[in-house]
Amino acid sequence: KYNNISIAVDGPAGAGKSTISKLVAKKMNIEYIDTGAMYRAFTLKVLEKGINLNDEIKIIEELNSTYIDFINGHIYLDNKNVDKQIRDNIISQNVSDIAKIREVRNGMIRLQRDIAKDKNIIMDGRDIGTVVLPKSNFKFYITASIEERAKRRYKDLIQKCEKSISLEQIKKEIEKRDELDSTRAIGPLKKAKDAIEINTTYKSINESVNLIVDIVEGR
Ligand code: CDP
Ligand code: CDP
Repeated sequence: KYNNISIAVDGPAGAGKSTISKLVAKKMNIEYIDTGAMYRAFTLKVLEKGINLNDEIKIIEELNSTYIDFINGHIYLDNKNVDKQIRDNIISQNVSDIAKIREVRNGMIRLQRDIAKDKNIIMDGRDIGTVVLPKSNFKFYITASIEERAKRRYKDLIQKCEKSISLEQIKKEIEKRDELDSTRAIGPLKKAKDAIEINTTYKSINESVNLIVDIVEGR
């Protein structure tokens, strides 16, 4: 039905990017690619190896011996499935420090373009419409109020039994991550000029999904 369609989805943490993108992919029968999962997987590796987060040389060296892949919606780190581990809050707390490193971004971008090549895809992240796939057919920028995003993430973590964390702390952590992601020198979080903004604060997941599918299918 589609011929090399590519949909770019960007926005801050907890706005609904991955939930919405996954459902759009299912509805349109195209592939979903979660670029945040790739940065998270590499962060997991750096933390597991006990590498100092300020030691960029060591981190870049580690990247060269790391194999990351995203297959059928699952993330693999050195051929091991790490879907669950990458969602731990300790990863959220450290990922932005890894994602700001130029060599890390270059490696991930290469990988992301390679995975997307010759396929119908929807890809979500921070720099997809601006850097990774600047020529994508459709670009969306998904937002929601910080209060709503913090509440959503809090609910997610409570369900995973990470109960030691408070809503207030989650809100602070999200604000800090958004700040780091949008002020970094390379590939910062930014709405692409030609992106359509969708504010999901008062929207259900289905409403947002249908909105995107309708736009893409020209309704
Ligand atoms: O799902 P959530 O919004 O919490 O984050 P994510 O999409 O899993 O991304 C985790 C982190 O990876 C972000 O906070 C960014 O630091 C980084 N990231 C990035 O720099 N560029 C991307 N294209 C995707 C993620
Ligand atoms: O990927 P991103 O960080 O942008 O957000 P997400 O992980 O897709 O969404 C965070 C949480 O918000 C999930 O539990 C979603 O089910 C929920 N959500 C919601 O309640 N209402 C929406 N309109 C969108 C997402």
